[in-house]
Amino acid sequence: MKMPADLIRDEIRRHRVISFARFMELALYCPETGYYETKRDNVGRAGDFMTSVSAGSLFGELLAFQFAGWLAELRITDCELRIIEAGAHDGRLAADILHWLGKFRPETFAQIEYWILEPSAARRTWQEKTLSAFAPRVRWFTGFDDFKLKTQHSKLHGVLFGNELLDAFPVHRYGWDAKEKIWFEWGVALDGEKFIWAGIQNPESGIQHLCPAELARILPDNYTIEFSPGAEDWWRAAAGILARGKLVAIDYGYTAEEQFSPSRSHGTLRAYHRHQVGVDLLADPGEQDLTAHVNFSRIQNAGVAAGLKTELFCSQPQFLTRILGAAVKDKMFPGLDARQVRQFQTLTHPEHLGRAFRVLVQSR
Ligand SMILES: C[S@@+](CC[C@H](N)C(=O)[O-])C[C@H]1O[C@@H](n2cnc3c(N)ncnc32)[C@H](O)[C@@H]1O
Repeated sequence: MKMPADLIRDEIRRHRVISFARFMELALYCPETGYYETKRDNVGRAGDFMTSVSAGSLFGELLAFQFAGWLAELRITDCELRIIEAGAHDGRLAADILHWLGKFRPETFAQIEYWILEPSAARRTWQEKTLSAFAPRVRWFTGFDDFKLKTQHSKLHGVLFGNELLDAFPVHRYGWDAKEKIWFEWGVALDGEKFIWAGIQNPESGIQHLCPAELARILPDNYTIEFSPGAEDWWRAAAGILARGKLVAIDYGYTAEEQFSPSRSHGTLRAYHRHQVGVDLLADPGEQDLTAHVNFSRIQNAGVAAGLKTELFCSQPQFLTRILGAAVKDKMFPGLDARQVRQFQTLTHPEHLGRAFRVLVQSR
């Protein structure tokens, strides 16, 4: 069984240099040994990074309240409703949502199936274990094609969502050469056994759509940006199968205008290990998480081009505060206990998960 570093070295030896996107794909997802194939416990205090899910069950409970409301608004009685999650990791968020629905919205719980889009057999096993109590209600598909094949349907009704899914797709990384006035792609090569950055000239994909030529001309030398075609393709495919309902992304990210702020001149690609930002993005592939901010403008445009309407684009604190306000009025959350208050603070406070996280809701 080859480790990610060995697979990457083999591939670089064959091609001399590979794109960073390919490096990231192998580091995170190569079968059996990639970071997300082996590190079940990487999310949370004892792992490498926190997410809203690891802050506690309140996040899932608030989402469950909102999803139940959206499903009721659809007023669909002649076909089955689904909640579909992608990026479910160990199944914890699915369990929080299903637990709350079963307790407080039994009629919705009885009406839906919870579907998980999960390409990895290892992660599916983790999820099956976490969700064993909800077994008859949960169904797995490896992706959109698998869903079409197994159900003989091409369309879905319900809520399709991912928390911190889009930031985990492999990104291409581009640099601006101010002297030559050209973009180049950052690739990865080898110096002996060590991974090193290497420029790839004339990148074929993407960059010209990210930055208008007149803006590029005034950027400082070595200005760096990332491009995630995988995240956009995923959103387009998700939009394509949604017949009626909502498509939701919760993630850290920026808009196209914010992308060119001076504070982002080195890009947003980061490595995380044990809650520390790694100094070397190329070190220890398979041992540290790699992630980049989501370009929400591009995601939003992909959805609109596929016929979706943007319902909401706001910060996570705004989104959750709105849900909590409605929940309290509904008497579902008669008041938060001290533990839930602490969780809400973690989810919304700018020093925790409140600053960078955004929510995009599109609908059909
Ligand atoms: C940053 S983790 C977030 C996990 C969880 N949603 C949470 O918030 O705690 C990203 C997850 O997305 C998964 N993932 C990446 N690409 C995926 C895809 N195409 N379909 C489904 N899951 C994917 C990764 O394996 C990983 O479990």
